[in-house]
Amino acid sequence: MPSNRTFTMIKPDAVGAGNTGAITKMIEEAGFKIIAMKLTRLSRERAGQFYAVHRERPFYGELCEYMSSGPIVPMILEKDNAVEDFRTLIGATNPQEAAEGTIRKLFAESISANAIHGSDSDENARIEGSFFFSQTEQY
Ligand code: CMP
Repeated sequence: MPSNRTFTMIKPDAVGAGNTGAITKMIEEAGFKIIAMKLTRLSRERAGQFYAVHRERPFYGELCEYMSSGPIVPMILEKDNAVEDFRTLIGATNPQEAAEGTIRKLFAESISANAIHGSDSDENARIEGSFFFSQTEQY
């Protein structure tokens, strides 16, 4: 059965451009309830841990540098069919391929500075949410 929670983080490009409020508004208007949220930063080392699954990929170093370059806004979200519906809302990883009206189409600059992350499975949503939030920080 699909979980009703997913994990997201607004990335440094979108936070730096002042798009946190606009993106959060889109998320809430799409029916997601915010269960946990904060403004924080990843060190280079913590970014490497978060994206460890990509450590063999050619873009891993660039990705970790970028994700530790400025503030981010991680969140845990709740909605029926959360993981799949959220990935529809954010659009394709490469903003050039993202559908009209999606968050990445509207706000992403490039494939690495692509505005927002969305978990790709229920299991990863749980793992990624726990990376940033303890149980007591979730509502
Ligand atoms: P995200 O959904 O956060 O998960 C992994 C990230 O790696 C992805 O978003 C992109 O920002 C980044 N990424 C994926 N493919 C590439 C690529 N070819 N070049 C640079 N970054 C990439």
